[in-house]
Amino acid sequence: MTANLIYVLGLETSCDETAAAIVEVPIDGTKPVGTGRLLGNQILSQIDTHAPYGGVVPELAARAHLSHLDRLIAAAFDEADLTLGDMDAIAATAGPGLIGGVLVGLTTGKALALAAQKPFIGINHLEGHALSARLTEAVDFPYLLLLVSGGHCQLLSVTGLGNYTLMGQTRDDAVGEAYDKAAKLMSLGYPGGPEIEKRARDGKRDAYKLPRPLLSGAHSGCDFSFSGLKTALRQTAEQAAPLDDKKVADLSASFEAAIGDCLATQTTRAMQAFSQSLSPNAPRQLVVAGGVAANQYLRDRLNAAATQLGFTLFVPPAALCTDNAAMIARAGAERLAAGLIEDAPLALAARARWPLSN
Ligand code: KG4
Ligand code: ZN
Repeated sequence: MTANLIYVLGLETSCDETAAAIVEVPIDGTKPVGTGRLLGNQILSQIDTHAPYGGVVPELAARAHLSHLDRLIAAAFDEADLTLGDMDAIAATAGPGLIGGVLVGLTTGKALALAAQKPFIGINHLEGHALSARLTEAVDFPYLLLLVSGGHCQLLSVTGLGNYTLMGQTRDDAVGEAYDKAAKLMSLGYPGGPEIEKRARDGKRDAYKLPRPLLSGAHSGCDFSFSGLKTALRQTAEQAAPLDDKKVADLSASFEAAIGDCLATQTTRAMQAFSQSLSPNAPRQLVVAGGVAANQYLRDRLNAAATQLGFTLFVPPAALCTDNAAMIARAGAERLAAGLIEDAPLALAARARWPLSN
């Protein structure tokens, strides 16, 4: 088998990470062969900029992207020991996200592509997350995807590049958002996910009784709801005040147990439905992606659920779960190889909203 190597620069600026990465992907015909290599991977987190406000401030994020993106692109080329001229294409997140930030990466990507006379590819940030496991694991289509981030909580069946079918989603808050709000009400830092995970390790999972929304409802399908859980946590925390370290640990552990039950139960329902669409011998694969997938407790819960149904769980390493440009470069490489590129990519507009499923 002879495979062509292609090189793609990816840019990510849709939220509070400024990132540039370069991937090398072997292509056979129109398809990637295996994981390829991540040659440069630069990420600058803006956490310190936004932490005093307890959340991302869009205007500050856009300005920080503008200040740092050029330097990060140069650092990614240095790390890879390659130049713009070596690239086969430039890919950048075109949405969904905070529009000011998306514009910075999108415009920079277009300008580089125009200057170097290379194809430009606008990527849906969610497609980046959806394909992120393919950076490190040889996971082929089809697979069931649980996408859990600060802005999204969705179950999708992924049957090919560009083929995503929604099976369930949150009806209110995203799961990362629930973590961030829960952390805020217990006066923990931002972002809340890693902090709650750390505190929960010293707590009891059944210390406080919290609701598991939608799990028993006959009409909930594979949907999620986290806003009631957040309200219940607030009331429980108010009753338990003043909070000491032990109470915070117990509240964090109980909150995380409720989230774990919701994710494991609804993902189990989706795995059962997804399984029925597969031939008996096809591998059963569950991929979890997005920032919340960095959580080890939730990974363990999902792994147990997957194993019970004969599914193999794939989760990217933590640094590729949270926002990064490697997944944008990977999506760009897969689209370039498949010829799935816009007719007039330089006219592509930045999009604040852009659902993945078709
Ligand atoms: O994918 P991501 O970096 O950005 C979005 O596209 O939203 O996800 C960020 C979200 C935040 O809400 C953060 O609190 C959450 O992922 N997160 C975690 C963990 N690490 C990050 N949630 C739970 N446990 C973690 N270890
Ligand atoms: Zn993301």
